[in-house]
Amino acid sequence: MFKRREVFTESFLPRELPGRTAQLDDLARLISPTTRGQPARSCWQLGPSGVGKTTTARWILEDLRDNHAITWTRVECVGSTRWNLLGEICGAHPQVPHHPGMGVAEMAQKLAANVTRPYVVILDEFDGLEDEELLFDLAEAEMVSLICIAHDEESALSTVPKSLEGLRGAEIIEFDGYDADALFEILKARVEIGMDSGAISDAQLHHIVQGAGGSARRAVQSLRSAVELAQERGHRKVLEEDVDDCFEHAMARIREQLLASLSREHHIVYQVIRDAGPKGVRSNAILDRYQRRSANPRSRQQVGNYRAKLERYGLVEADGNGRWATYTVVDEALDAPLKRTI
Ligand SMILES: Nc1ncnc2c1ncn2[C@@H]1O[C@H](COP(=O)(O)OP(=O)(O)OP(=O)(O)O)[C@@H](O)[C@H]1O
Ligand SMILES: [Mg+2]
Repeated sequence: MFKRREVFTESFLPRELPGRTAQLDDLARLISPTTRGQPARSCWQLGPSGVGKTTTARWILEDLRDNHAITWTRVECVGSTRWNLLGEICGAHPQVPHHPGMGVAEMAQKLAANVTRPYVVILDEFDGLEDEELLFDLAEAEMVSLICIAHDEESALSTVPKSLEGLRGAEIIEFDGYDADALFEILKARVEIGMDSGAISDAQLHHIVQGAGGSARRAVQSLRSAVELAQERGHRKVLEEDVDDCFEHAMARIREQLLASLSREHHIVYQVIRDAGPKGVRSNAILDRYQRRSANPRSRQQVGNYRAKLERYGLVEADGNGRWATYTVVDEALDAPLKRTI
């Protein structure tokens, strides 16, 4: 039933982005100065999980590289130090001399001195950034512009120092959930290039759209799961029962991937909550138990950020409000990838 499996992976970059015309236009306007040799205007891309923030940024920058030879890179802030991130950003630029023995100050200096043409850096998972000094390093490099991707304004701006007014006031491009028409188009395009014809009907695609809650990730992964279930069950094409069961099957895989994408410290917090079982655990106890388990424990505020990120990813849920809220994991079967070492 699958003609091209890679069409259903996270990293696959589609040819078209239904439902994202306004965001693509905004981004194109902000990066257009690069085609005249000037730096792009930095911006924020904000919105919930799975609605095309990373994909849209990659799509437009691939286009810019192909048509205008503009250099860009994408780094993920979650779980990375300032040294790691600067290393990735310097290493991805052909004109910046870089070797692993360099310290942060030297890397920042080389970046500022050697980037003489526009360089666009996507800081993805920005709400996971732990060392704000990186933002000062990047602000020193005149030709470097940022596309900062996060889930909401509050979690994103809380890491940006007040003195970085330019970045704090940068334009915000909002990404909201997709409507049913856009999700249907997204699925239809994947079916056409990735599946044998006749393997799934339009009515079944509509059914999948209804279960996706506005998320393209959920829609695409549910489609993939429907086909996988059909294959496992020996069906020659996707049947209703495969569609009925595809949502939970896809969500389990999505949760596993999201958890794997987070840092070791997130994993410890997750594991503390999971170990508390169905009765849940309060935030003070999470902090306490986390501090006992971590070899390099982070601050109370940072642990609160980790817990909030787990919630935004739908891995953990809260019952109640404020300090009296109790936290439980959404999927008790899902283990943190580092369990054995903590
Ligand atoms: N407009 C679109 N057209 C086609 N596919 C899309 C579109 N938007 C998103 N997708 C697909 O949905 C999946 C999730 O998209 P993406 O990773 O860009 O979401 P995100 O907003 O960055 O989520 P997160 O906040 O969890 O990182 C990817 O597989 C991507 O290819
Ligand atoms: Mg993303």
